Amino acid sequence: MKKKILAIMGSPRPKMHTNTALDLILDNVDHKKYEINKFNLRELNISHCKGCESCGRTGDCILTDDMDMIYNEFDSSDIIILAAPIYFNSVNSLTKAMIDRCQKYWSQKYILGQNYKRDENRKGIYIGVGGAPFTLDQFSGAIPVMDYFFRAINADYHGNYFISNSDRIKIDEEINISSDLIKIGREIDIIGKFNIQK
Ligand SMILES: Cc1cc2nc3c(=O)[nH]c(=O)nc-3n(C[C@H](O)[C@H](O)[C@H](O)COP(=O)(O)O)c2cc1C
Repeated sequence: MKKKILAIMGSPRPKMHTNTALDLILDNVDHKKYEINKFNLRELNISHCKGCESCGRTGDCILTDDMDMIYNEFDSSDIIILAAPIYFNSVNSLTKAMIDRCQKYWSQKYILGQNYKRDENRKGIYIGVGGAPFTLDQFSGAIPVMDYFFRAINADYHGNYFISNSDRIKIDEEINISSDLIKIGREIDIIGKFNIQK
């Protein structure tokens, strides 16, 4: 049986740098081994978390919208790749709205004591794209958010790939970046933990 990759593209710009970086990985995954389900968040109807605390009582989200498709994929995917642009030193709000809707997993674990995929070893990979030249704090708001997100969905925070200066460069024309991303795709099965800044 094929393993599954859930790929989430969080930029509101469907054909720009975040999407290019993500596709360079996905296009090079062995499709005989992996089924890939990719979601462009801007095409989905995902409401903001209302903070109603209903999931703390039931373990489920009270809202019914396209997040249900992503919940289904969380449940069955072996690798989760989230690609998101940096806005104000953190993940952009389109992506953050999806992450906030993962509160039900936090509630399942920490309020209701349930074992949501707790024993499964699966990988979480974050691709972050920032327009400005690299600075030390450029991705500093995103990292703790991604850490908490991957913990909520019980994925091991396996890799960061950070790209700076995207407002000046074209990712697919930067050989040292595109070759990295191609390699990550090809070696997704066996790749060790990584933390790369370009
Ligand atoms: C509202 C907004 C805030 C941004 N804030 C940052 C920032 O804090 N740091 C940075 O490096 N780039 C910032 N950028 C630039 C984006 O990260 C950059 O344009 C990136 O390529 C966007 O991803 P995309 O090309 O996939 O849409 C910002 C862009 C927007 C629109």
